[in-house]
Amino acid sequence: MEHKATPEHTYAYGVDVGGTGIKGGVVDLFTGQLVGERYRIDTPRPATPQAVAEVVAAVLNELRQRPGMPADAPVGVALPSIVHHGVARSASNIDPTFIGTDLVALLSQQIGREVTVLNDADAAGLAEAEFGAARGVAGSVLMLTLGTGIGSALLFNGELVPNFELGHLEFNGQIAERGASASARQREGLSWKEYAQRLNGYLEHVQFLFSPELIILGGGVSKSPQKFVPLLELETKIAVAEHANNAGILGAALHGSRQNS
Ligand code: BGC
Repeated sequence: MEHKATPEHTYAYGVDVGGTGIKGGVVDLFTGQLVGERYRIDTPRPATPQAVAEVVAAVLNELRQRPGMPADAPVGVALPSIVHHGVARSASNIDPTFIGTDLVALLSQQIGREVTVLNDADAAGLAEAEFGAARGVAGSVLMLTLGTGIGSALLFNGELVPNFELGHLEFNGQIAERGASASARQREGLSWKEYAQRLNGYLEHVQFLFSPELIILGGGVSKSPQKFVPLLELETKIAVAEHANNAGILGAALHGSRQNS
């Protein structure tokens, strides 16, 4: 498979909005590495669009003021929302007033330059496609982030097909993320073996529906993959995400660099 064209910019800023923290970093687009430390501010409560936009701007300000950082580098922001034509169509772990908000307009205005916005799991998928476990894999690859909910990204020949919300598939009579996310394991006090069985059922369902070449597991739970990944029994190849911590930042920066160059 062809590798993506050489980026026009060397650096881009990525910001990842989560339920508890808003994290940003400067990404080297050639290596996929963060340049310097990432910077984090607690997510405001309530996490309304305006309050979140102000924190995103504050995070970017800190990053841009670092010595040697180009003011004109592209900016991408990832959020736990369906993002269609720049507008939020859902809101997970952020204030419901996000729904219907024009994220691109709001954030671009607050930051004072054009930014791109995408779903957080889509960002993680982009990061894995360019610099991680999905790199060079042809056909369809599904990235699933197992955290408070289940985020998902579909990549086809390395290209993102945005807004696949497979955490919202119905499974065992309920929305899948309710029973198979990392938080479900904790809430229900499941052992790793029980969780692996539960997750395996969900993955079999997803495999039946989409026949992917590879499923990548990321999100909070991917920090201890040895506890459950070896217990999964699936025909589809499974890989653990290579960018658990910074995937959202990395993917947001990549997204920004592709659309704002
Ligand atoms: C949301 C997704 C999001 C995921 C991870 C899910 O509840 O529906 O849009 O990507 O959580 O934050």
